[in-house]
Amino acid sequence: MDIRKIKKTDVPFISALHMKMLPTSIARIGNPYLSELYDTLLKDIGLVAIDHGSIVGVITATANLKKTHQNVKCLLYHPSTLWTIGKAIVLRRVTIGSLFERMAAQAEILSLFPDPYATILTFFVDKKNQHQGIGTKLLSSLEKQFPVGTKLYVDTATSNTNAQQWYKFHGFRSIKTIRNTIVLYLSTQKRDLFLHREHTSLA
Ligand SMILES: CC(C)(COP(=O)(O)OP(=O)(O)OC[C@H]1O[C@@H](n2cnc3c(N)ncnc32)[C@H](O)[C@@H]1OP(=O)(O)O)[C@@H](O)C(=O)NCCC(=O)NCCS
Repeated sequence: MDIRKIKKTDVPFISALHMKMLPTSIARIGNPYLSELYDTLLKDIGLVAIDHGSIVGVITATANLKKTHQNVKCLLYHPSTLWTIGKAIVLRRVTIGSLFERMAAQAEILSLFPDPYATILTFFVDKKNQHQGIGTKLLSSLEKQFPVGTKLYVDTATSNTNAQQWYKFHGFRSIKTIRNTIVLYLSTQKRDLFLHREHTSLA
C-alpha cells in the first residue's frame, strides 16, 4: 500500500469513493459537484492510499480554512453548481436546511477559532479496506505536510460517533460543538502517547 499526493486524474475516483463512504449533505449534491470540489481542493493538501493500483483511502486538509472557504463559496455560486444543487434539492437528495446548516457551522468555526485555521476537510477509507491501518497511515502522512507545531483541527457530524471515537483514539480531543458539528483538535501530548504505544507494539 502506497501513499501519494492527489493528482487531477484521481478526482473522478475520489468523488465516487466519497459518495460511497461519506454520504454527507455535500456529497449528496452529487458527483459533478464533488468533482468540482476536489478540483478546488487540489490547491490544498490531499493524499490518497493506493492498493493494487486502486484508490482505497483519501485525506484532504487545508492550512487555512478561510481561504479554502472563499474558494468553495465561489464554486457554490457558479451557475453550473447552482444547477446541480437545484437538481439535488428537487430530487430530494439534499435539503436546503442541511446545506445551510453545514455552511453556517463552517462560518461559525471561522469566527470562533484563530486564523489561520488548519483542518482536515475530508477523510475516508473504502469499507473493504478499513481496519488495516490505512487511515492511521494517511493521518500520519498528512501531519508531515504541516510545519511542526501546527494545531490541526477536524470537525465531524455529532451523529458520526464512529469517526469521533477513531479521532479520539488517534490523539484528538473534542473542543466544541457547533450546531450538529463537533470540533476536535489534535493534542500533541496525547498524540505522542499514541505514537509511543504504536511504536512499542511494533517492537
Ligand atoms: C475513520 C476511518 C477513515 C478510519 O480508517 P481505517 O483505515 O479503518 O483506520 P485504521 O485501520 O488506521 O484504524 C483502526 C484502528 O483504530 C482504532 N479505533 C478506535 N476506535 C475506532 C473506531 N470507532 N472505528 C475504527 N477504528 C477505531 C482501533 O484500534 C482500530 O484498529 P482495529 O481495526 O485493529 O480494531 C474509516 O473508519 C472511515 O472511512 N469511516 C467512514 C468515513 C468517516 O466517517 N470519515 C470521517 C469523517 S470526518
